[in-house]
Amino acid sequence: MNKGAASGIMEALWGWPPPVLDPAGPYASSITTLAWALFAMGVLVTGIVIAALYVAIKGPERWREKLGGEKAVWIGGIAFPAVVLTGLLIWGLALTASLTEPITGREARVRVTGELWWFRVEYLDPAGRVIVRDANELHLPLDRPVVLELRSADVVHSLWIPHLSGKMDMVPGRINQLRVEASRTGRFGGVCAEYCGGPHALMGFVTQVHEAADYDRWLAAHAARQAESVSPGMVPGAPADVPRDPAAPQRYDPAQGWRLFRDTGCAACHRIAGTEANGLAGPDLTHVGSRLSLGAGILPNHRGTMIGWIADSQSIKPGNRMPSYDRLSAEELGHIAAFLEAQK
Ligand code: CUA
Repeated sequence: MNKGAASGIMEALWGWPPPVLDPAGPYASSITTLAWALFAMGVLVTGIVIAALYVAIKGPERWREKLGGEKAVWIGGIAFPAVVLTGLLIWGLALTASLTEPITGREARVRVTGELWWFRVEYLDPAGRVIVRDANELHLPLDRPVVLELRSADVVHSLWIPHLSGKMDMVPGRINQLRVEASRTGRFGGVCAEYCGGPHALMGFVTQVHEAADYDRWLAAHAARQAESVSPGMVPGAPADVPRDPAAPQRYDPAQGWRLFRDTGCAACHRIAGTEANGLAGPDLTHVGSRLSLGAGILPNHRGTMIGWIADSQSIKPGNRMPSYDRLSAEELGHIAAFLEAQK
């Protein structure tokens, strides 16, 4: 596995303490509480077993007889585990039920589809219509429950954002629901948690939690951009907003990048709202310039990684469905990257 890619942006997002012990919302908190309870029970049972072992070897005769008796087997071997395990089972089932409660109306709704090997992310309006298409990045409002509608386009994947909720499988032909809620703003890592073939370990995403008002603004702005009607020949996006040496002429031209993007065939798989690029097989690129990561959560997003990804994605993430465009010159790659940077 390519270590450079694997130790990319996700490592920075996961950090220390481990996210399962650092919950950032009520659903994750209740899972952490259960995890600590399991740990405490494990310590207790281990302690009891070691004590019993000690008594069996070196304890007084009277105790050793009791330990070998039928009563000890009934209590220690059958009744105690049955009570403890049944209690934990009921706790776990109740917790799962709270994570999968159906929609009541107040929640934001986002459809996330697992694909080989990335996440399609679609924001839904209350009627269930798609208003924003995105990929590999999940934006959430603070302190508001969000229902994720989980699907798969091919094989079984699983979505896990350990800071915010439990993990839930994405199964072909089935819709699973998972509730997430964040009680602090920030960026959190997520992964595919079910082996789904070659680059499974490189299938991640970034979650960003915004203040509720910022989230509403974000969603409205993106929905407006997504609804722009197609105007053939236009060059979408603002001029690339990249700091550069004022003495040097701008080397890469987004307009030139758009023509290369269109004529190289990128538009067959990728959509950019408001343009003729309307391929739906790969990630929607309407907002790719504002994403934090590339390649499904494995590279930080900047011009260098964008150029590298387009030129040689097969070395970075072997087996992924995007071919390497190593026939493009460095100059051409720079134009395309400058164009994509401008898609906010
Ligand atoms: Cu998708 Cu593992």
